Amino acid sequence: MTIYKNGGSIQNALIPFVKDCKSIGFVPTMGALHKGHISLVEQASKENDCVVVSIFVNPTQFNNSHDLKEYPRTLESDIALLNSVSGNIFVFSPKASDLYNEKVISKEYNFLGIENEMEGKHRKGHFDGVGTILNILFRIIQPTRAYFGDKDFQQLQVVKKLVEIENLPVKIIGCPIIREKNGLAMSSRNKRLNKEQLQEATLIYKTLTEVQQKFDQHSISELNDLVENRFTNHPILNLEYFEIADVKTLKTAREKRENTTYRAFIAIFVGGVRLIDNIALN
Ligand code: PAJ
Repeated sequence: MTIYKNGGSIQNALIPFVKDCKSIGFVPTMGALHKGHISLVEQASKENDCVVVSIFVNPTQFNNSHDLKEYPRTLESDIALLNSVSGNIFVFSPKASDLYNEKVISKEYNFLGIENEMEGKHRKGHFDGVGTILNILFRIIQPTRAYFGDKDFQQLQVVKKLVEIENLPVKIIGCPIIREKNGLAMSSRNKRLNKEQLQEATLIYKTLTEVQQKFDQHSISELNDLVENRFTNHPILNLEYFEIADVKTLKTAREKRENTTYRAFIAIFVGGVRLIDNIALN
C-alpha cells in the first residue's frame, strides 16, 4: 500500500482512473481508525473503482487546543488496518503545510444556520474548519462519491450544503453508525478512555434508546427532563447538551409537529474526553 504525502503525488496516482472515467470513492478521516471508519471504506469499495482514504488531523476544526494535542495519532496501525480490508486503497496522509497556505486558518461559511446549532454552538468555528478542509481535499481528490457517518449527523448535513455552495461534483453518501456490542458508538476518542469510563459511557446509548422508545408517548420537554435527570450528579459523565431536533433544520424542537422527522443528539464529557452520539426518533 502506497502512502501519498502531498496533493500532487496522489493526483498523479489517480490519473489512470480519471482518464478511464472510473469512479473514485473518498473517505476523509482524522485517523485512529476503527470499525466505524472501516464500514465507510467497505461501502466505498463496493460502489467505486478505487478508494482514497485521507488521514489528517485538521487543526482548524478544533476549538480546544488540548483536544487537538491529545487527539490519537496512530498512522502505522491505521495503515495495517486498511491493508487488512484491501491492498487496493490509496492512503493520503498530508501535513498541514501540504494543504493550507502559510496561514492555517478557516474560510468563513454560511451553511444556512445549521452550522450554528448543537456542535456549532458548543465548538465555535468548528464547521468552518470542517468545510475548509473538505473543500481543499475534494479539490485535490475530485471524488465521484464521498462517504460520511451518521455518527456526525450534523457534519453530514453541513457537507451536503458545502458541496452545493462550492459547486463540487461529488455525491455525498451517509452511512449508519457502527457501535460496540454494548451500544457505545465507535469513536477515535474512545481510545482515550479507561475501562471504567468506557463502561459508564454505555449510558449514552442506553439513554438515547430509551428516548427513542418513549418518543411516541411523551412530550419533548418530558424527554429532555428524563435525560437531564439521568446525568445530573453522575460521578463520571457530564452532560454538555441533549437536544431533539428537526433533521432538516437541526433547530431545537420544543414540541412535536406533524410531517416532521426528529433525531435526538447528545454530547457528553467523560473525564476530559468529549463524546457525541445521536439516534433517529420517528
Ligand atoms: P473522523 O472523526 O475521523 O471521522 C471520519 C468519518 O468517519 C466521519 O464521516 C465520521 O462520521 C465517520 N465515523 C466515525 N465514527 C463512526 C461510527 N461509529 N460509525 C460510522 N461512521 C463513523 O469526521 C471527521 O473525522 C472529520 O471531521 C473530517 C470529516 C475527516 C474532516 O476533518
